[in-house]
Amino acid sequence: MSGPLVLPISAEHPDPAVLAEAAGILQAGGLVAFPTETVYGVGANALDPRAIARIFSAKGRPGFNPIIAHVGSTEEARELVRSWPEAAERLAARFWPGPLTLVLPKLPHVPDTLTAGAPAVAVRLPAHPVALGLIRVAGMPIAAPSANRSSAISPTTAEHVRRGLGDRVDLILDGGPTGVGIESTVVDLTGSAPRILRPGPISQQEIEALAGRLDRRASPRPGEEALLSPGLLDRHYAPRARVRLFGAGEGATLAREVARREAAGEVVGGMLLEEELPGRHMLRMPGDPAGYARALYAALHQLDDLGCDLIVIEEVPDEILWAGVRDRLARAATPEAPASG
Ligand code: TXA
Ligand code: MG
Repeated sequence: MSGPLVLPISAEHPDPAVLAEAAGILQAGGLVAFPTETVYGVGANALDPRAIARIFSAKGRPGFNPIIAHVGSTEEARELVRSWPEAAERLAARFWPGPLTLVLPKLPHVPDTLTAGAPAVAVRLPAHPVALGLIRVAGMPIAAPSANRSSAISPTTAEHVRRGLGDRVDLILDGGPTGVGIESTVVDLTGSAPRILRPGPISQQEIEALAGRLDRRASPRPGEEALLSPGLLDRHYAPRARVRLFGAGEGATLAREVARREAAGEVVGGMLLEEELPGRHMLRMPGDPAGYARALYAALHQLDDLGCDLIVIEEVPDEILWAGVRDRLARAATPEAPASG
């Protein structure tokens, strides 16, 4: 069985020869998976509609879900957008390169396939040296969604990518596990007030401090996003197993249920913060939001790979700094629905 080509690359000092090989594939219209500081992305030339179409088919992604353009500098971002408001300038100055995506009105040369027909484009300047090096050597903005099949768990290692996308991609750059672990915060700057379309590593407070008060209609609860951004459908980041969130006080009842299920031959996984559960596959998760985010997808992949029938996840605090993790857990626990990205 022939798999995709996987090339190891140093995360700190990427080898220019390896970057040049990857850039050549992108210039020829191919697909390259690469690490960013958040999760692995699957990239193509963001200005080439045919290359973008290949991303949609590799992921099985619905055509109405737009893709982020990754750029090598703020200037390159500005070349894709019709306006660059003060809020964009301040947020970019503070958080770029980094896990923040800005949605702004697009210029005509940005393909409609990238934005799924929307008049706005999402732009992000990533902080990972491999991602940045690849964009710069290729000399183009890179369209890159997370490198998973649509609605499956996002990848934080090259092995996750290989197992999810296999030879649907031409090359995987293996720069080791990603540092942040959940996807960028997505902020829509096309309206009169900024809106958070996807909570993430940069918090609501940090956005508001620089960009002004948020439009609250959009600090989305899972279930509302689909109305705001076509791509933000409910079920996402989801393992094959059934996922159930549980709160404080449910531990004792759940402990009995886990014991009963295991005795009946079921495989039960768990992701715990403070509770103790007796199961065989209970993972202790980090108690801080950044640590939890870093470990989250690897834990879901690990439990899913065990063939769990059920994964029980202890709820995380309902606090602003936990918003990104809470969002991903809620989506993982959402029963099957139409696929997203
Ligand atoms: O951290 C990240 O953002 C990762 C890494 C690879 O950069 N990328 C990522 O891409 O998470 P993806 O496609 O899995 O998620 C992008 C999200 C989707 O929910 C999509 O709907 C939204 O951003 N989005 C992209 N372009 C948009 C646009 N023009 N307007 C509104 N939402 C947009
Ligand atoms: Mg995704």
